[in-house]
Amino acid sequence: MIVDNLAIIVAIAQHGAIGRKNQLLWHIPEDLKYFKETTIGHPVIMGWNTWLSLPKRPLPNRLNIILSFKHTCPEGCKAFSNIPDCLAFVKQQDKTCFVIGGASIYAQLIDYCKQLYITWIDKECNDADAFFPIDKICHFKLINEKQHFAASINSVLRFCVYER
Ligand SMILES: NC(=O)c1ccc[n+]([C@@H]2O[C@H](COP(=O)([O-])OP(=O)(O)OC[C@H]3O[C@@H](n4cnc5c(N)ncnc54)[C@H](OP(=O)(O)O)[C@@H]3O)[C@@H](O)[C@H]2O)c1
Repeated sequence: MIVDNLAIIVAIAQHGAIGRKNQLLWHIPEDLKYFKETTIGHPVIMGWNTWLSLPKRPLPNRLNIILSFKHTCPEGCKAFSNIPDCLAFVKQQDKTCFVIGGASIYAQLIDYCKQLYITWIDKECNDADAFFPIDKICHFKLINEKQHFAASINSVLRFCVYER
């Protein structure tokens, strides 16, 4: 079942690497800006580990939806202890809801998503311990791509949007 207003946003390095020790593997202001511009005003959905990893929480000007089996809902947020209840809530929203990580939540929700917003980072991260299910991207079609030179990593970022 595809949920038309459900999208993933993620930054992915080589071999699907997305994180290490519950942190990102990079600090790229250009991508943080893109993330903020894309998600502002929209509900964002994350797992408990990603919630803990946020430098400032909740993310402002966005409804923060947190998935956790065992923790209670942080103040000012919405929480679910299972995917079906979370998806039922998403379907009631009139805006796109962005899945913002981490690895376990991407893996569980990608099959329901209509769109993927992927920032491709041409960087090798041998020490990664969190990965995106890149084998599933083939089920989507690339509909938009913008390249941007990121001085912070001296490399080109590719901001890609995919849709089913
Ligand atoms: N590159 C990127 O764009 C990006 C974006 C976001 C995150 N990340 C990285 O991803 C890594 C974190 O990923 P992760 O897989 O360890 O953690 P996560 O997906 O953020 O959170 C996992 C937690 O979510 C809860 N959970 C998982 N499935 C659930 C379900 N079906 N129902 C209810 N709750 C559920 C559980 O919390 P409880 O234990 O509380 O029950 C589980 O321990 C970090 O390194 C982070 O930096 C990267």
